Amino acid sequence: MTISKTGMLPALGWNSWNTFTWDINETLIKEVADLFVSEGYQEAGYEYIVIDDCWSLRERDENGNLVADPKKFPSGMKALADYIHEKGLKFGMYSCAGTHTCAGYPGSFEHEFQDAAQFAAWGIDFLKYDYCFKPRQINGELLYKRMGIALKNCGRDILFSACNWGEDNVYQWIRESGAHMYRSTGDIQDNWDSIKNLALSQLEKECYTGNYCHNDIDMLVVGMHGGSNNDFIGSKVGGCTDTEYKTHFSLWALMGSPLMIGCDIRKASKETKDILLNKDLIAINQDPECRGAYRIKPEPQWFHGYDAFMLVKLLANGDLAIGFFNLGEGNRELPLLFWDMGLPYASGTALSLYDCWEHKELGTFTERFAPTVAAHDCLVVRAKVVKR
Ligand code: GLA
Repeated sequence: MTISKTGMLPALGWNSWNTFTWDINETLIKEVADLFVSEGYQEAGYEYIVIDDCWSLRERDENGNLVADPKKFPSGMKALADYIHEKGLKFGMYSCAGTHTCAGYPGSFEHEFQDAAQFAAWGIDFLKYDYCFKPRQINGELLYKRMGIALKNCGRDILFSACNWGEDNVYQWIRESGAHMYRSTGDIQDNWDSIKNLALSQLEKECYTGNYCHNDIDMLVVGMHGGSNNDFIGSKVGGCTDTEYKTHFSLWALMGSPLMIGCDIRKASKETKDILLNKDLIAINQDPECRGAYRIKPEPQWFHGYDAFMLVKLLANGDLAIGFFNLGEGNRELPLLFWDMGLPYASGTALSLYDCWEHKELGTFTERFAPTVAAHDCLVVRAKVVKR
């Protein structure tokens, strides 16, 4: 048996929910697929195009099958899958472990094997599996395990994207269920507080991510600028600055989260594209060994509080990806002592630093490096270990 690469690295793609919620259709999905190719997203590594909730009719058919809404998807899901596959891209869909999806459409509870077969027949490559309307007396862990088995046995290689929002100690059992990625948080909103809170909530969880089972901090809001059709996600809560989106992308990339674009890429600005298509950041996220990034708190800790820190991720070729994050207000100097990464002066090493946002060499440093980082901004470097 050859080992599948599906889910080995964090998924890269686009998902309809953040911007469009219920207002989806096949024209939109095809346009996104076209832009993936023409605007360089595919070349940068983005692969999955995922339809979230609200794609089906409110009732199953007489055989108990899910039915795509013919008004939204008149050509049907198989034709849409073919269209996406012809471009060398992959197609994702959505269902729910409960009786209904979060928006009230039929869920897969007690239809798991039937639905997995249906998804395979349509040619899907990715299933996001939500947690609303789970019967209270049923153990949720079992429902993810059940769908994990159904997908593994449906005859098609399908990435299993679990979405139980970090509930029920998901860290402890999700890898065993077969899920390739798992949502560890509640839903993101297109504002700075949400980005900050989601990232901070996962900082002690770096050991719970890795190849074939990635901690998913939720879909990106990069480039949305308040452009959701949903009040909760963004139309009322505001949007962020480009600097904040850059920091959001850097946190997600370093922390190994899947990078699922959530904005309307038909309207993406140059600044948005520069963030989403940053090859140096994507390379850190897609590092083959998928090691978690650990946090280093700058000294003195009483001065910096919890919202300024460094993240360090050891990469497969021996380099270190290091992010300097200032999630607080005002400029901060963030001193990194190389000692705190296991590199004392006596080791005879120095670090040659490359700035992954400015795309330039910063020079070689010994013992410490102390950049000043503006409020809500970050610096991400790739550090090569060299002889002093
Ligand atoms: C939940 C999920 C979201 C989205 C919606 C769809 O809230 O966490 O990501 O899929 O359901 O209704």
